[in-house]
Amino acid sequence: MSQIRAAITGVQGYVPDYILTNAELEKMVDTTDEWITTRTGIKERRILKGEGLGTSYLGAQAVKGLLEKTNTAPQDIDLLICATTTPDFVFPGTANLICNMVGIKDIGSFDVQAACSGFLYALTVGTQFIETGKYRKIIVVGADKMSAIVDYQDRTTCVLFGDGAGAVLLEPTTNGLGVLDTIIRSDGAGQPHLHQKAGGSRYPPTHDTVDKRWHYAYQDGPAVFKFAVVNMANVSAEIMQRNHLTGDDVAWLVPHQANKRIILATANRMNIGMDKVMLNIHKYGNTTAATIPLCLWDYESQLKKGDNLVLAAFGGGFTWGAAYLKWAY
Ligand code: ACO
Repeated sequence: MSQIRAAITGVQGYVPDYILTNAELEKMVDTTDEWITTRTGIKERRILKGEGLGTSYLGAQAVKGLLEKTNTAPQDIDLLICATTTPDFVFPGTANLICNMVGIKDIGSFDVQAACSGFLYALTVGTQFIETGKYRKIIVVGADKMSAIVDYQDRTTCVLFGDGAGAVLLEPTTNGLGVLDTIIRSDGAGQPHLHQKAGGSRYPPTHDTVDKRWHYAYQDGPAVFKFAVVNMANVSAEIMQRNHLTGDDVAWLVPHQANKRIILATANRMNIGMDKVMLNIHKYGNTTAATIPLCLWDYESQLKKGDNLVLAAFGGGFTWGAAYLKWAY
């Protein structure tokens, strides 16, 4: 029998209604539409408003839509994994909450924390459970409410991030399609350059940590930029090389949407034109774990069965990685 692979058999996204434009940010901090557009490619991002709504709300909307779209009953799901950096709580996990919100009961569910590479990590984990034959239907969610940890007084980070979620259904296939290879990497020495300093066990919340604004995301943009450009391009080239792919073989690059310039550098390294690169950073900004599934959702109608897709990401940790898959429908 041919090898069991994990195929994405459905994708669904969710973004909240509120649109935070560059024009509105111009009124909040010392920035301009021109700076944001030329340095990042972002024009607007979505923000989740509403008392008591966290990342689980975003994830649950995407999962509900996915179940409906794929005609899947909640009781048929074997495992749900949620990649997020902005969990509703330190515990319980956001994956647990999402299951409860959509009527999925009595299965394993857990969160994966790998910042902007979270979806790639979670996809890699889910793939293993399918490949061993243990499970037949797994949902992988990437969801982040970045507005919860963004400092809207810090112009260097507040222009970058938005809220959103995307979810995919993974099922086994033996027809040569699906996830064919994944690479995940990390380097904890990146922590000083990109982190949320307080709220965890090292610096539990105190009045002092709040006063020092340590509960917000901190990023040394240029330092992260250097690492991101090199590592996202390298890992994409590596996955192509070890699967004997040329630029012509790749139908789509599905890159994490942190900065259009990083995406351009990755496409150049892979020797593919921008017409084969999924881009939605202009309308959602960086939604952290949600960027890749949101791209798949936006471009779903353009995908053809058998298309070679390379997914690539870089994020806090540092973490980075790539996946090679053949689109299955
Ligand atoms: N508006 C106007 N000016 C600004 C803004 C702003 N919003 N932000 C910064 N500037 C200024 C800076 O103060 C600086 O001014 P100076 O020259 O007088 O000191 C100047 O613009 C240039 O700033 P840089 O930070 O050097 O700008 P850069 O071109 O590096 O762009 C950016 C910043 C967009 C953040 C870029 O560094 C980047 O994309 N970094 C990588 C992001 C990334 O990949 N993150 C990983 C994923 S995120 C995650 O995992 C959660």
